[in-house]
Amino acid sequence: MTKYIGILTAGGDSPGLNAAIRGVGKSALNNYGMQIIGFRDGFRGLMENRTIRLDGGELSDILTRGGTILGTSRDKPHRMPVGGKLLDMTDVIVGNYQDNHLDALVCLGGGGTQKNALRLKEKGLNIITLPKTIDNDVAMTDATFGFDTALGIATDAIDRLHSTAHSHHRIIVVEIMGHRAGWLALGAGIAGGADVILIPEIPYSVESAAEAIRERSRRGKPFSIVAVAEGAISKQEHDALLEAKKQKPSSRQKESKKAEPEDIPETQYAERTLRLAKQLEKLTGLESRVTILGHLQRGGIPSAADRLLATRLGTACTDLIHQGHYGVMVAAKGEITKPVKLEDVAGQVKTVPPDHPWVVSARRVGTNMGD
Ligand code: F6P
Repeated sequence: MTKYIGILTAGGDSPGLNAAIRGVGKSALNNYGMQIIGFRDGFRGLMENRTIRLDGGELSDILTRGGTILGTSRDKPHRMPVGGKLLDMTDVIVGNYQDNHLDALVCLGGGGTQKNALRLKEKGLNIITLPKTIDNDVAMTDATFGFDTALGIATDAIDRLHSTAHSHHRIIVVEIMGHRAGWLALGAGIAGGADVILIPEIPYSVESAAEAIRERSRRGKPFSIVAVAEGAISKQEHDALLEAKKQKPSSRQKESKKAEPEDIPETQYAERTLRLAKQLEKLTGLESRVTILGHLQRGGIPSAADRLLATRLGTACTDLIHQGHYGVMVAAKGEITKPVKLEDVAGQVKTVPPDHPWVVSARRVGTNMGD
């Protein structure tokens, strides 16, 4: 019996999504004779039943393309903007899954998508997910596709900023994506040789960063690169937020068993980075400039490593569908891929342990981590 598979991409786009769609689709067609139906724009397209048949032609020539041929959105099944309101459209989604006679639905996404996928699994759908995000913050997998490409872009940016910072004797503060996780800022900061790296998981003291910059000046290097993750937070703010939480914990915080980095609203990232640059300027006497890499980090062609990872995960996903193994995310574990239960992934954020080997290495080469 021919199996019908739906596929969608949700959340922020990420290099490698098309490679993963191709991996799932070509493997399904070539090896198992399955039929693939793409849904446009994430869960919104599934709710509106906007489909695209992926029967071979559409899967060609997409391996190297950035973005997603399916389109994406951040809309959630249970809180979908409809007619100016946020409505629970889960039942409509379940209906469309059934009307399309799907045997399985593949959801490609980051942390939010894993949670939404679990909700649909709990409604009885055969769900299987792949981990994608440039933030590298999905739990239970060694890696997410998109991260390696973004790491290369951010590292290249730091390389370029070095020569201009050096020429003008300036501090350049470069803001790097990652939301609540510091993987991208840490990785690019190390690879690009940033002098200061600030990540959400290690609350910083501006004075400590400033002293590292002043020390460089004393050693005849009156310029510095500061790689700051968008969610980085000062010790004072961290302590103030902790205190506020103790007074009034949110339901998520009550449920959470481990210490989590504080959640800085996305709308505040840029102003906080500008403020940091001004503070460093005042404390060091060096002129400062800010570079916000933003969505550049998500654009363009995927790296070879991301194409490889996406293809590995995509083809393994099809094998699991063939075996009827659902309710899982296909994780990368060393050289192999492994299905992990959605329950073990959803709601978790893989942040940087403050004693992670990358942090240790950064410190060993003299990088200031803000503490
Ligand atoms: O989660 C991926 C990510 O790129 C984060 O690093 C960033 O904070 C966020 O998405 C930006 O989201 P948007 O696409 O809504 O601007």
